[in-house]
Amino acid sequence: MRIKDIRWNLEYTSRANPTISITIVFSSGVIGRFASPAGASKGKLEAPSYPEGGIESAFRVLKELKTKLVGREFFSQREFDNFLSEFDGSNNYSRIGSVVSLGCSVAFAEAAALENNVPLFHWLSNGVASSYPLPLGNVLGGGKHSRGRSIDIQEVLVFPLKAKSYREAYEALVYVHKKVGELLIQRDPGFTGGKNDEGAWTTSLSNEDAIQLVVDAADLVGSELGVKLAVGLDVAASTLFDEPSASYYYRKMNKYLDKEGQISYILELIDRFNLKYVEDPLEENDFSGFSRLVESRGNKTLIVGDDIFVTNVSRIKLGIKDNSANAIIIKPNQVGDLTKTMEAVREAGLGGFKIVVSHRSGETVYSHLSHIAIAAGATLFKVGIVGGERIIKHLELIRIEEEMGGLRPATINL
Ligand code: PGA
Ligand code: ZN
Repeated sequence: MRIKDIRWNLEYTSRANPTISITIVFSSGVIGRFASPAGASKGKLEAPSYPEGGIESAFRVLKELKTKLVGREFFSQREFDNFLSEFDGSNNYSRIGSVVSLGCSVAFAEAAALENNVPLFHWLSNGVASSYPLPLGNVLGGGKHSRGRSIDIQEVLVFPLKAKSYREAYEALVYVHKKVGELLIQRDPGFTGGKNDEGAWTTSLSNEDAIQLVVDAADLVGSELGVKLAVGLDVAASTLFDEPSASYYYRKMNKYLDKEGQISYILELIDRFNLKYVEDPLEENDFSGFSRLVESRGNKTLIVGDDIFVTNVSRIKLGIKDNSANAIIIKPNQVGDLTKTMEAVREAGLGGFKIVVSHRSGETVYSHLSHIAIAAGATLFKVGIVGGERIIKHLELIRIEEEMGGLRPATINL
């Protein structure tokens, strides 16, 4: 796999913010291309998107990288990603930024899969992938994805506990999304039809009324279609956390909750709404708070770490030691290349964590993430339900399922 050329272009995420697509051409003529997404509620320890100096510096870095890459031959994904990591030299891609590193890593992987005549998920899993994840979709949201004008909780999510096919599972989520819109017309006098960054509805209802509405929509659709649906939350608690007072601020209720208050509130929500999934219920450094939730509800609910782990092996090790989660969000751009992403997946698997591969709120119109989710052996694939940049990822999974066969759906025992 000899690199013949590397090119780049200014592109846009779904928030119409600039990002960079990177194209890698092998001497055989095959090409791979990818543009990194961008988050809004980022973990503090994520790899930075851009070098110091922003996107202009990233363009300069790419010119420098091109002189080193062109003509060079690579034999594996690991060798290519290690080359990127050494070129960066900082350990967390702070010199070149994750838009450059992940763009190159995924573009290389796509070209490599083509060169070797295998699907991308096959290339990334060395051929051992055997299942595909079920979709986990954001239907109603607030927090940083809605300019603070909806509920405090960032995301209310729905997922099937079991499905015969990805198509059936995705269709069920589409119906729940539509049903939530209909119920909002009936129950929310302030409803404008507005949707947020991930295509989830926004509402003027209270946090609890909003969750209840999603539970009702999931029940209605679930019994209509005969699919068992579950409801969950991404609290994104770091975005509610006020450091000076060490408490969580709920704007809708105009209430501050300290750590104990937050833990009791989350337990109350889990029980009242039978939540099967709770992501980032506490701020990103509260390993002990997370483990309290795993101890008391981990047998029936996924307690999921996103900002606390940032797809980073050393943070995952801390979480395993403290029993701080039973599932983890994997976002490739948090760590900056596919080798590091798969290392995080492996480490999390050793700790018995379920894998949830996730989009970012500012997504790009590429579908490589669907292959990454399969290669990671993910149980859930967290992607918004509507919007072209999300739909393309679901369609890719359906295509893989229907055209390639041989993969079985993940099962979730909760
Ligand atoms: P993002 O957040 O806006 O950083 O992509 C999504 C999430 O918290 O899961
Ligand atoms: Zn999250």
